[in-house]
Order: sequence, then C-alpha cells, then structure tokens
Amino acid sequence: MLSDKIVLITGAGSGIGQSLALAFAREGARVAVNDVAPERVAATVALVTQAGGAAVAAPFDIANFDAVATAVQPLEQGQGRIDVLVNNAAVLAGHVPFLETRPADNDREIKVILYGTLHCSRAVLPGMIARRSGKLVNIATDAARVGQEREVVYSAAKGGVISFTKSIAREVGRHNINVNAVSPSATDTPLRRKILDDMATKIGADAVREREDKVRRAYPLRRIGEAEDVARAVLFLASDAARHITGQILSVNGGFAMPG
Ligand SMILES: NC(=O)c1ccc[n+]([C@@H]2O[C@H](COP(=O)([O-])OP(=O)(O)OC[C@H]3O[C@@H](n4cnc5c(N)ncnc54)[C@H](O)[C@@H]3O)[C@@H](O)[C@H]2O)c1
Repeated sequence: MLSDKIVLITGAGSGIGQSLALAFAREGARVAVNDVAPERVAATVALVTQAGGAAVAAPFDIANFDAVATAVQPLEQGQGRIDVLVNNAAVLAGHVPFLETRPADNDREIKVILYGTLHCSRAVLPGMIARRSGKLVNIATDAARVGQEREVVYSAAKGGVISFTKSIAREVGRHNINVNAVSPSATDTPLRRKILDDMATKIGADAVREREDKVRRAYPLRRIGEAEDVARAVLFLASDAARHITGQILSVNGGFAMPG
C-alpha cells in the first residue's frame, strides 16, 4: 500500500527515525532521509540502499524555517511530490528537574520539537493540498500525555505537537489529508541509552538496572519498546488502511498509560 510513495522522515539518522526509514523502504516507498547531522543521513541512506530500498539524502535543520523551505522545495520537485511526512526529530537536553534546566536548552527543545514540526508541515502541506492527498504522522510521547518529571520542557513541547496534530487535522481534512500522532513511551534508542548512561554515572550501574526492572514492571506487557514497534504503527497511519483516521494520538507503550 505504500509502494512508490515518497516519504520524508525527520531525524532519520538514528533510533526510531532510522527504523522508520528501513520500514518504509521495505514497503517499497522512496525515503527522503532527513537529519541535522549529515553523517547520520549518509549512514541511514547507506543502510536503506544496502537493504535494497530507495533513499535520498535530505540533510537540514528542521528548527530553521529557511533551511527547511530551501531543502524541501527541490526535494519535492526532484521526487515529484511528498506523500507522507513523519515529524520524528527531537532533542532531549537532559533528564533534570525543571529548575535546574537552562533557558537556552528549553529554547532548543521547543525549537526542534514544536517549531520543527510546524516548519516541516508548513513546507509540505501546500503540495498535499494541491494534490488532494497526503499523510502527516507526528511522533509525540506519552511523557506529554500523562506528565513526566525531569522532562518537563520536552514534554511541554510535545504537548504542543499533540495539540497541533488535532487542530491541523481539522483544517486540512477537507483536502483529503490525514494527520495523526504516534505516542511512544520508553523505547530502546540512542536517545534513551544516553539518559541511562548519564544516570549510571550519577547513581551507579546497579541502581540503573534496578530502576529498569521497576520500569518494566510498570508496563503491563513487561517490556521496553523497540524502534520497530513505533515504526509499525506509523506505517499503518501512513497507509490507506487508516484512511478514516485523523486527529488521533496512538500510544505505542506496552500499556504503560491508557489515556481516555
Ligand atoms: N526513545 C524513547 O524512549 C522515546 C520515547 C517517546 C518518544 N520518543 C520520540 O521518538 C522520536 C525519535 O526519538 P529517538 O529515541 O529515536 O531519538 P534519537 O536521539 O535516537 O534520534 C533523533 C534524531 O533527530 C536528529 N535531530 C535532532 N535535532 C534535529 C534537527 N534540528 N533537525 C533534524 N534532525 C534533528 C538527531 O540528530 C537524531 O539523529 C522523537 O520524537 C522522540 O521524542 C522517543
């Protein structure tokens, strides 16, 4: 169902984004691999190509609207269109209480997470509206749905992404465009591994292992998610199987939270 679709994935140089690039390519889609780090873009393009898929490099900083517009226009012209945008890139500046965070780090999290999502959506929506066809899938987080200490500004920015998902879905539904979000909870990626490594230097490896056991017990399915789990949900929302679904937030969380 996704065969020959053109899919732009932000932050596809690592973790969930890289898994998404491989998953879409396996379905026959052509993937535009975005990341702010060009060497990560190159690594994912190489992985997709080695796996027999089709990928093009799209390195740019999603927090900078001029950079987004300058990159997306030739990409759209070169590929003919963008059918699917996955707003996945994010930064988590640190795992510390709000009052210990620095305003400059708050700024960066909001710019990448919220403005990045707005900028990329602004760049691709006119083409989708003109073609009366398109899918936006935003990556949120359960931290925003139920609250998360030590990730306060990251969660607030993601809360903005959730609200944007719902409101823009109302605006563009009449143009046959679906907008949804996938909301993961703890997922084993470099972003999460870095938090655990930082924690280990503060409280020790044994304490981190104990904490991980506790985390697992808090999940009805008793496991930490994998990037592939998130990718499967995104593939569904990007496909025509989800044609009557819009403005929804789908948690992929092993049952960690069950928001009404
Ligand atoms: N890993 C988890 O536990 C978890 C849980 C909930 C939600 N999420 C969400 O899943 C998504 C992917 O997270 P991940 O764990 O794979 O993270 P990651 O850190 O492994 O990958 C994020 C990628 O985004 C890129 N990026 C950062 N700033 C950018 C910018 N300005 N422009 C373009 N690219 C940029 C990074 O270079 C990196 O390659 C994020 O939206 C994150 O908030 C992750």
